[in-house]
Amino acid sequence: MKVSVILGHPYEKSFNHAIANVVMEALLTSGHEVHFHDLHKEGFDPLLRGEELVADRSEDPLVRTHWAEIREADGIIIVHPNWWGQPPAILKGWLDRVLREGVAYMFPDDDDGSGLPIGLLKAKAAIVLNTSNTPEERENNVFGDPLERIWKDCVFDFCGVTTFHRRMFRTIAGSSSEEREEWLDEVRDIVNDTFPQLS
Ligand SMILES: Cc1cc2nc3c(=O)[nH]c(=O)nc-3n(C[C@H](O)[C@H](O)[C@H](O)COP(=O)(O)O)c2cc1C
Repeated sequence: MKVSVILGHPYEKSFNHAIANVVMEALLTSGHEVHFHDLHKEGFDPLLRGEELVADRSEDPLVRTHWAEIREADGIIIVHPNWWGQPPAILKGWLDRVLREGVAYMFPDDDDGSGLPIGLLKAKAAIVLNTSNTPEERENNVFGDPLERIWKDCVFDFCGVTTFHRRMFRTIAGSSSEEREEWLDEVRDIVNDTFPQLS
């Protein structure tokens, strides 16, 4: 299977990078074709400018590469920390520019854009792996777990991806190296369950 892996974190020694490394290792070991993008490292420009908003093409070759890959992907894995209950801005910009109308979703011909979308993504499964410092009870009861709404409902359901798995690793601050190793083992299991070994 073709799997797109998108990482939104600026620091190479972060736990998010460790997660992404395990994701890559698991997918490659199972024989999948992987398109990996460390958005900061590749210098992804998150700004959706006016001329691109109103056109159906992009002058940015990196955006065109992302479009081609995401259209072809059988699976998508997103890795990022919880920043203000949202993805980091670079990843928000990836959403704006890459998962755009005509690539990830469309509206029926007789619809003005306010109706129900038609998901265009070929991917049948998506995994979102997050990190945060807020305990689960506070995240759910005080903040309402906005990342679940964003990724499950606003993004992947909207774009027609039917199988969705999200895991928030917490709390990163103060976690022991043993805890982190266990979390990375869990990452491996999640990836292997969703994208099993190719025979
Ligand atoms: C700009 C910024 C905003 C953050 N906002 C939140 C937040 O809303 N909720 C939360 O639990 N943690 C928040 N954090 C903490 C990060 O989620 C945490 O540092 C990260 O998940 C740890 O993983 P890492 O070591 O890979 O960076 C924030 C951190 C930064 C830098």
